[in-house]
Amino acid sequence: MRFACDRSNCKSRRGSLASATLSAIARLTIIHRAILTSLLTARLVRRETHCANRGCQDRKQDFDVILHNQPSPATIAKASQKDRTRSEALALQRFVRQFVVEMPKTFFITTAIDYTNSPPHIGHAYEKVLADVIARYHRLKGDNVFFLTGVDQHGQKVQQSAAKAGVPPAEFVKEITQKFVDLWKKLDVQYDEWAETTNERHKKVVQGILQRLFDAGQIYKDKQAGHYSIRQEQFLTDKERGPDGEFGPEWGQIEFREEENYYFKLSQHKDWLLRYLDDRKDAVIPDFRQTELRNAVEKLSGDLCISRPKSRLDWGIELPFDKNFVNYVWFDALTNYISFAGYDPKPDNYEKQPQEFRDRWSKDTLQIIGKDILVPAHGIYWLIMLHAIGFPNEAMPQLLVHGWWNLGGAKMSKSAGNVIDPFVFADKYGAEAVRYYLVSDIATGRDSDFSEERLVQRYNADLANNFGNLLNRTLNMVHRYCKGRLARPRETRKFPTDVIDGYKQLVAEYTAVTAPVRPDVLIERSLYLASVFNGLIEAKSPWTLAKSSKPEDREFLEDLLYDCAESLRILALLVSPILPKAAQGIFDQLNWKMELSGKEERFSLADAEWGRLPDGHVVGKGVPLFPRIDIGDGV
Ligand code: MSP
Repeated sequence: MRFACDRSNCKSRRGSLASATLSAIARLTIIHRAILTSLLTARLVRRETHCANRGCQDRKQDFDVILHNQPSPATIAKASQKDRTRSEALALQRFVRQFVVEMPKTFFITTAIDYTNSPPHIGHAYEKVLADVIARYHRLKGDNVFFLTGVDQHGQKVQQSAAKAGVPPAEFVKEITQKFVDLWKKLDVQYDEWAETTNERHKKVVQGILQRLFDAGQIYKDKQAGHYSIRQEQFLTDKERGPDGEFGPEWGQIEFREEENYYFKLSQHKDWLLRYLDDRKDAVIPDFRQTELRNAVEKLSGDLCISRPKSRLDWGIELPFDKNFVNYVWFDALTNYISFAGYDPKPDNYEKQPQEFRDRWSKDTLQIIGKDILVPAHGIYWLIMLHAIGFPNEAMPQLLVHGWWNLGGAKMSKSAGNVIDPFVFADKYGAEAVRYYLVSDIATGRDSDFSEERLVQRYNADLANNFGNLLNRTLNMVHRYCKGRLARPRETRKFPTDVIDGYKQLVAEYTAVTAPVRPDVLIERSLYLASVFNGLIEAKSPWTLAKSSKPEDREFLEDLLYDCAESLRILALLVSPILPKAAQGIFDQLNWKMELSGKEERFSLADAEWGRLPDGHVVGKGVPLFPRIDIGDGV
């Protein structure tokens, strides 16, 4: 799915760079080493500060360990010349390994930023949960993740809603923004950076980019004359006319207007975009969305109006070259993806961008958006903007386009009064039930119909009756029949190994690059394995085996219970991106401690190796993680 990597953050490239660097170190003089040490230390401290600021505690601990492990000046002074040189060389090697070899690849993931004209609905929740799940899959695989999401605070809709509410726009967006922040907290959406477009730094980046494009002759002023809808505040073209040739009632009063505005030379880049899309078959996923975009680009004509006179809209970012206008509106919103990732608007090409930004931004950057904002916003405006400000084809992001949650087959909309409030469902059924339903009952890229009944059905069938049941009965049986202690199966075990092979295969599938974008498939495959184990328990009836006095029955019983516990440990890892709290709960109940894992992260795919629970391991008591929802309870 991804192109072969040629970037500096590619692990394989880092590997060869590392051996070259290490042999170069051996040839350095003491002075050279001292200089290199201080340079690397400065970089380490920068990263440490960055992580401390961002609250990436795990990375911060890594840095503490590295800095601690440095020989102190006193130790170096005491050492003989030979030892000193050796210890310095070793310290340098550790530094170099940290940065060149072991620094995991950064996976940058973004979502659309939501309009702050009304509170979040279930569609917003789906997109952010999907991104969170994909981000967690990458963390599980050991990638360093940078997950950016946020809110789109400027524009006409916000200005109008604020006016309607009788409050200044700044106050209005603050209140709505808080609702989004609260929802992500409630739903356990764990982002690394939060974008708000009224942020001063963001404004500077937008203005810097606009100024550069203006100076380069990519933005010009022009007069537009035509039919104008007062209600919708926009010029109308023939595309907006109905079959009878008239503008429909949705446009309200129409008048003829002449207005000066600024335009970005969009169509000048049409051929480039067509070539780019032809060369990169996975620029947009799923495939059918790339085809849709390609067809739209073919029809592209005309430039993009990027301004509104302040006389009719002032809630926006002022154009740096004309204070009578504000930017309208995609330049502002789209720029968030880079302004909150460390982009510097001054350098006119990607290679001159700060290292922090280039570490994050690559062609593997995954931008999650809904189907309504692919054409023209992201597929045309955004890709062309990036190209125009100096991003090479090799640094074009990948767009993942998801479908929509509808209600009774119809689009949810505030005006139709059929929006689903995610807070209500999270309060009623819990965040994990909502997360599970939202990503498992929709195939990424397709639409689905939201139904409370279905949410409850799936929760009860998949989580309570299947997964939760496996956990409870396993722990209860281990306590009842084996005094809470697991016995590691002997080499001579008779237990069917094909089930275990199923796990191994599933774990292998998780490492495929395409896997994380289909959490619906991954969770289905995982929970299927839970049902296989439940089936085995039924078929082998451990309660009968426990009564038998035959040693082989006892052995079989112990093997079966070990395998059930082990399957739960691995399943907890595999479902942790979707059900992080439940996964923690399973680990706690199994008594699977960090010390046993030996990993720095509680959830690491490297731990999904079969047979890691030690012989004699004592499990905890079973507490229902997914209590059944009573269908009579108000559904
Ligand atoms: N502010 C713009 C995006 C700017 S991105 C630089 C916007 N905001 S939005 O609030 O209208 O939509 C935000 C995201 O939510 C979009 O990706 C949109 O597709 C998604 N959804 C809105 N309604 C949805 C559903 N009913 N179902 C799933 N996602 C939906 O557009």
